[in-house]
Amino acid sequence: MAIIFNEQNKTYTIQTKNTTYQMAINPFGVLLHTYYGRKIENDNLAYTVYDDMSPFTPKTEDIKGDEVWARIDHIPQEISCFGCGDYRESSVNVRHADGTMGLQPIFVSAEIKNGKYSLEGLPAFYGDEGETLIVTLKDRVYDVYLHLYYGVLPEYDLITRALVIENKTSSKIHVEKALSLNLDFNYGDFDLVSFEGRWAQERRFQRTPVAHGKNQIFSTRGASGHIMNPSCILCSKDATETNGDAYALAFVYSGSFLISASRNFNDNTRLVMGINPENFNFVLESDESFQTPEVAMTFSYNGFEPASQNLHKAIRNNLCRGKYKNARRPVLINNWEGTYFDFNGDKLVSMAKDASELGVELFVMDDGWFGKRDDDYSGLGDWVVNERKLGCTLSELASKINEAGLKFGIWFEPEAINEDSDLYRAHPDYAFKMPNRQPTLARHQLILDMSRKEVRDNIYNQLCKILDSANISYVKWDFNRNITDLYSCEVPAEKQGEIYHRYVLGLYDLLERITSRYPDILFESCSGGGGRFDCGMHYYMPQAWTSDDTDPIERLKIQHGTSFIYPVSTMGAHVSASPNHQTNRKTPLKTRGNVAYFGTYGLELDVNKMTDEEKAEIKRQVAEFKQHYELIQRGEYYRLRSPYEFDSLYCVWQVVASDKSEALVCAVKYRTEANTHPEFVRLRGLDENKYYKVNGGKIYQGATLMYNGLMLEQSWGDYESQLYYIEEVK
Ligand code: GLA
Repeated sequence: MAIIFNEQNKTYTIQTKNTTYQMAINPFGVLLHTYYGRKIENDNLAYTVYDDMSPFTPKTEDIKGDEVWARIDHIPQEISCFGCGDYRESSVNVRHADGTMGLQPIFVSAEIKNGKYSLEGLPAFYGDEGETLIVTLKDRVYDVYLHLYYGVLPEYDLITRALVIENKTSSKIHVEKALSLNLDFNYGDFDLVSFEGRWAQERRFQRTPVAHGKNQIFSTRGASGHIMNPSCILCSKDATETNGDAYALAFVYSGSFLISASRNFNDNTRLVMGINPENFNFVLESDESFQTPEVAMTFSYNGFEPASQNLHKAIRNNLCRGKYKNARRPVLINNWEGTYFDFNGDKLVSMAKDASELGVELFVMDDGWFGKRDDDYSGLGDWVVNERKLGCTLSELASKINEAGLKFGIWFEPEAINEDSDLYRAHPDYAFKMPNRQPTLARHQLILDMSRKEVRDNIYNQLCKILDSANISYVKWDFNRNITDLYSCEVPAEKQGEIYHRYVLGLYDLLERITSRYPDILFESCSGGGGRFDCGMHYYMPQAWTSDDTDPIERLKIQHGTSFIYPVSTMGAHVSASPNHQTNRKTPLKTRGNVAYFGTYGLELDVNKMTDEEKAEIKRQVAEFKQHYELIQRGEYYRLRSPYEFDSLYCVWQVVASDKSEALVCAVKYRTEANTHPEFVRLRGLDENKYYKVNGGKIYQGATLMYNGLMLEQSWGDYESQLYYIEEVK
């Protein structure tokens, strides 16, 4: 049993393999949060909740007497509401029919179930092996119920949290804030690690103290976005990769989000996470409810590394779905950086033929094959093959590529529309636009109102027509701008605050329909690179294009940051041309390959232009990647030396097989200095007692490699890299 109720203490304790989470019902029915951290047996941990003496702390008197039932501004709770004395960042705000705002949630009942809950219409971790706790609270006055969902996957130390707000009053209410998680600590000296960025610079590691005041990570863009990722790690000051407390949290959602961490006057800490309340206002009629998405959290007392590894396993095994969750994904070539819009069918076939010689297995035709689309000013919305440009039908092109020995894949941007398109001319109301304003363009395009079924159906039918017309094995689902002009022409003014979320629900509905109709297609998510890289999208698509920046040196930081939350198997990574198109940097082909190995590895260049020597190197890489595929994709990931270490010349990381029989270490030299000394890197995760052969040569004991270190080969030149295959000697 992962969830235990103690009748005497009135505690609900969630036990995972290495962690404990506890809540307690106080004598007045307030659901306290009493502990989350390293495993403790089923003790009563409510003794840590102390009283606050400040006369400025609001206190609510018990109805029957003058006993103080809660100094709500100060005590750690499982849910926090604005209006009745808690001045901290709240997780829920409801405006009642009489215009008042506020909730005082009191315990009503709880239920423990086998299996982890699922959420209708929303992505969520799954697992029959898990358990679910549903705690129901009710406002002290109004018939508004809060159902707190906790899912537990004990093996990965994973706990999820979602919330349902139910209106049982006879009038309508407005939900103005509905965050999924409220995590309180009645002490506080934390740092917050988050992943910030911009286009072509996604998910760079950022660490800031959680000070008095609010530390907010957020998106208001209608998508999770490039700028901040919907994930974070709340950690102790001493936390490193291998030491200290680390709470890693990921929001399973692809729209606007808010993560707010703050330290209160008594030095207690609160972290809330959920849908961004900016432009959010959900109307609940009598008997209606609102379901939030879920947050997944894991805790490690040994630093970031185990927390990342827990999330990696949970995302790989209990979030990603479909055939390609486990099946080996084909090595692909994508024509985008090779040709951009300038291609025809013959060119693509000629690229496919050359790629086939190198062991590549899938050809992806990127943007430009449909409608009127020779640049990014027109065509989006018209998912009709441009046969004149291709010189043949789609089915014929797919056959030619199949004959060359490759599977065939295709790019779509289903949520977008250009004003210069037949779809827009026929249905201008399909795009988000405000009645009295000129819509704001980005990349010359608008966004379709996916909250409307009619719009979704139109796109669904167009996509199915294409996917049914040819032998298509892969889809890249792009989203190249964020939302502005949020207004849906079908709903009344009062409900416009629902549209941001309804857009995401509509997107999920469309993704569910498409991915379940085509179970054999491999789907890759993309948003101008990694602008919607989140657990919500990974539920539908096991991989996402990590960044439009394919420079391997830039990728060190991008993939490093991404790896704190997301597994290697989700990170689209390609070898591209040198000099790089985003940075103009020249890098060795070997390094481009070594970095792309720790993702899904593919090519993104004009293979026809490569020299014989380069082709031979790619052929070697494809073979090497396939050889180590399982190890790379399913191994435990270790960040041995960060790209942010100022004095280090190398960025180094490692994957280790779960049975510790093999490992792969990659070291990239990002800066050369004269007269350097040899570098030693201490490996991790090996078996101390096993013996390992390094790159088929010398044999070392696991303990030696971990405690004394692997001596890197001396190399010359910036951006050189080395790969070490470490194999157990039996
Ligand atoms: C985005 C993607 C690229 C490519 C282009 C096509 O920028 O991230 O990989 O597909 O769109 O327009």
